[in-house]
Parts: sequence; structure tokens; C-alpha cells
Amino acid sequence: MKRSYLKLLKNNKAWVAEQNRNDPNFFKELAQGQNPEYLWIGCSDSRVPANQITGTKSGEVFVHRNIANMVVHSDMNMLSVLSYAVEVLKVKHIIVCGHYGCGGVLAAMGNKQFGLIDNWLRHIKDVYRLHYKELDALADKELRARRFVEVNVIQQVYDLAKTSIVQNAWRKKQPLHVHGWVYDVKDGLIKDLKVSFTGMKDLHAIYHFEK
Ligand code: CO
Repeated sequence: MKRSYLKLLKNNKAWVAEQNRNDPNFFKELAQGQNPEYLWIGCSDSRVPANQITGTKSGEVFVHRNIANMVVHSDMNMLSVLSYAVEVLKVKHIIVCGHYGCGGVLAAMGNKQFGLIDNWLRHIKDVYRLHYKELDALADKELRARRFVEVNVIQQVYDLAKTSIVQNAWRKKQPLHVHGWVYDVKDGLIKDLKVSFTGMKDLHAIYHFEK
């Protein structure tokens, strides 16, 4: 068990061989640089691997993951990824993908202490507070948790639209769509929440930046 990590290195060699067999130019082309069309903001959960569940290959998706797929506007890590993806790579789509059964969201629904992470989960509690009327009305805890996952994703989509990075791209008429999705670990399917932003019109004016 102690040396279980060796399996990963062995798998890597097998994967390299397979890629070369399928396409002898695979690594040569990737070495030229990346030109991904998508930025993925997902949960760190090991069951939600961006490329695998979307059938995309190396080079296709720029990825940022954190606990509960949050867009926290003071998070330098997220902002740097967003800025690079939008301003340099010029991705055309940003996908916030949450997942049902998200441990972070479930923890935020409760009152138990988990340590330092409680401060991260606070951001998710703030989302609950914004939507408490709808959520508290759901008596079934499982249904409430599923809806909380959805409204959390929707909130993160809005929070992306509030950034100067996304707004400046829209102002420059750079094609940029922001989407909200939820992955179901129970059946592997992704649900499109149909909250899709292509401009600032759906955002309260208080968040609109001038040029
Ligand atoms: Co999660």
C-alpha cells in the first residue's frame, strides 16, 4: 500500500505509449503551446475530473479547481487564472461546474466546525443566506442540498460577470460566454443550468464598471 503511488508512474509510461501509438505528433504539437477554448472552474473533488467527464484532450481545457468551485473575488489564484485565460488565451467559454453531493456545499449547510476550511466555506454560507427563502422551503434535506449546489453555481457565474476581467472582455466585443453546469456523480451526466451570460445586461447596475 505504501508504494501505491508507483502505479501512477507506471500508468504514465503506458499512457505515453498509447498517445504515441494513436498519434505520433501528439506531444510534438502540444509542445508548440496551448490554445484552449474553455476555462473550467470546478470542484477539487476527485470524482469530477474536467477532461475525463467532458471527453476533452490535453490542450483543450484550461482548468481551475478549488473546494466547491468558488469564484471568490479576493482569491489571487482564481483571478490570475481568469485573467490569463481571458486576456491572453482568449478562451471563448468559461464553465463553472459544480456537482451534486459536494462535500464543501454539504459542510456549509451544517454548523459543524472543520477547522481552517470553515473560513472558505463561509463564502458558500453567504450564498445560502442570499437564497435562504427558496432553500429553507425545501423540507427534504437531499433536495435542499441539490438545489444549494445549483444556486451556488449560479452565484459563481454572476460573480464572474462582476469581475473587471470579464466585463472588459465584453466591452471589447471579445466573444466570451459564461456557463453554469452541475455534474451528477450518481450517473455521470452534466446538467446545464441554462444560466448563461454573454454580457452585462443581466447584472445589477451597481456592478457595472465604466471603461
Ligand atoms: Co465538491
